[in-house]
This record gives sequence, C-alpha cells and structure tokens, in this order.
Amino acid sequence: MTQQGLFALFLFLHVLGAVVAFGPALSFSLIGPFGGRESQHANFTTRLQEMLARRLVVPVGLTLPITGAGMILTAQIDLAARPNWWLGIAIVIYTVLMVYAIFIQVPAVSRVVELTKGGPPPGAAPVNAGPGSAAPGGGAPGAPGPGGPSPHVLAAINKVKQGGIFLSALIVIIVLLMTVKPRF
Ligand code: HEM
Repeated sequence: MTQQGLFALFLFLHVLGAVVAFGPALSFSLIGPFGGRESQHANFTTRLQEMLARRLVVPVGLTLPITGAGMILTAQIDLAARPNWWLGIAIVIYTVLMVYAIFIQVPAVSRVVELTKGGPPPGAAPVNAGPGSAAPGGGAPGAPGPGGPSPHVLAAINKVKQGGIFLSALIVIIVLLMTVKPRF
C-alpha cells in the first residue's frame, strides 16, 4: 500500500473511531434528563450510560491516539513545527479529556448508579435537569424536598452533570482543532 493509501486508511479509522466513541457521549446530555423525568427509570438510564461509557466511549476513544499516530508517522507530520501546533494542543486536550473521563467521570456515574439503585423514594417527583445538563444521570430520581433524593444524591448527580458539560466542551474543541487546523 502507498503512503497515501495508508494515510487514508488511518484517517478513515480515526474519524470512524471519533464518531463511534464521542457520538454516544454527546447524547448523554439528552439521556440523563430523559431518565430524570421518569424517576422509576432513572437508575436504568444511568446504568445505560455507564455501560456505554465503559464499553464504547473509553475503549474506542483510546484507539484515536493509535490511528492519529499512524497518520503522523505516514505523513511525517512534525509536531514541533508552528503550523502543526493545533495538533499538539489537541493532543494535550485529548489527554485531559480521557484522564478526566476515566478517573473522575466514569467513577462519578458509577456512584450515581450505586446511590439510586434502590429506586425513587415513594412520591418522588422528577428532577428537571434543564437544558445543557450534559451528563450521565442528568436527572436522577426525585426532586429535592419531601420524597426527593437526599442532598448527597443530588450532589453526586450535579458532579456528573458538570463533568458532562466539561467533557462535551473538550470534545467540541478537539473536533474544531482537528478539522479547522488553525494556525497560531
Ligand atoms: C491523541 C489523540 C489524537 C491524535 C494524535 C490525532 C491526530 C490526527 C491527525 C494527524 C489527523 C490528520 C490531520 C491532517 O489531515 O493533516 C487527524 C484528523 C482528524 N481527527 Fe484526530 N487525533 C487525535 C484525537 C482526535 C479526537 C479525540 C477526535 C474527535 C473528538 C479527532 C477527530 C479528528 C477528525 C474529525 C479528523 C479529520 C480532519 C480532517 O480530515 O479535516 N481526533 N487527527
């Protein structure tokens, strides 16, 4: 295979990996509040997101540096050259993204799963997670107050929501850098 053909193959696998890994991740902002509106299903939707994160987002997301490195090597891209700084910046942001996702976000989602596995308290009202709650468990069981979840459950849900917004923003910035390739 020619160098050009090899680059095209890596690019294909790279973009496919990005779509498969981060497409579902961006949909968490819809799934969370959707589960929150039906508090009896909140634990299920949170577990669904945990499963997708562990089986799809993280493992497929971890293939991107491999296919990316394949392109860097076949096209002999010099990361230190100023026109390629966008790539170096994207790699740093990617590293922050994956470290946060693996060591903070996924455990935070697992904690919400654990805290909500008993189901909603009797008479619990749905949480209105509101727009932009980009996170697994964006609206878990019940509203605060009588019959609602305890403050530590709400705190765990909020941590996941904020982490989801942060990670979504990083994904958008990386896609912007990868496609626009701005010069600094
Ligand atoms: C360590 C991580 C990564 C490395 C080393 C890397 C490297 C690369 C390289 C070398 C290219 C080819 C650029 C060119 O055409 O000259 C590329 C393209 C691309 N990357 Fe990445 N990448 C990484 C992570 C990501 C992530 C996390 C995403 C998505 C969230 C992503 C999305 C894309 C897309 C969409 C393209 C196609 C751009 C185009 O053809 O215009 N990459 N990447």
